[in-house]
Amino acid sequence: MMIFALILILSYLLGSIPSGLLIGKTFYGKDIREHGSGNLGGTNTFRTLGVKAGMIVTIMDILKGTLATLLPLMFASDVHMLLAGVFAVIGHMYPVFANFRGGKAVATSAGVLLGYNYILFLILLAVFFICLYATKYVSLSSMIAAVLAFTYSVFTGDIPLIIVVGILTIFVIYRHRANIVRIKNKTEPKIKWL
Ligand code: G3P
Repeated sequence: MMIFALILILSYLLGSIPSGLLIGKTFYGKDIREHGSGNLGGTNTFRTLGVKAGMIVTIMDILKGTLATLLPLMFASDVHMLLAGVFAVIGHMYPVFANFRGGKAVATSAGVLLGYNYILFLILLAVFFICLYATKYVSLSSMIAAVLAFTYSVFTGDIPLIIVVGILTIFVIYRHRANIVRIKNKTEPKIKWL
């Protein structure tokens, strides 16, 4: 029990590593939270710093979730893996190392699913890009993928997965409140490269 509590703290700290801030400040002298949407995530890094930085930050944010799910491997239990993932996502959204101003839960949640069920991750990745191609909205595509992940989890009947994906989906939708308003008002920026 004590070891698992430490793993959860470690997962939160891992999730708190502010990839966008680290890359932005170190290599570009910019805090991406002062630019674009103000979000500390891959999309705003692409927007503010370009493709290379965007890719690196997105991959780092995904890996935080994946690594966290692998931390409790010694327990050999799905519940332990998923819970550690949730704590990494909380760290990503509210990072102790970046004044609790973090990202919107998408990449790190995807990383949790990559660690837990990589087939589901690949399906969601495909859905995300199909939605992105159709709508040009990263935020909307992220939310659709999150809702689909929850729908999939319900069909599996895997209770820990249903609960955890349900929590992650709520995180994703909640953190996209401003995007939802902008989509309704038709002021949400669209991507131009797809
Ligand atoms: O992963 C976050 C993305 O869905 C939206 O980011 O910067 O456009 O609010 P942003």
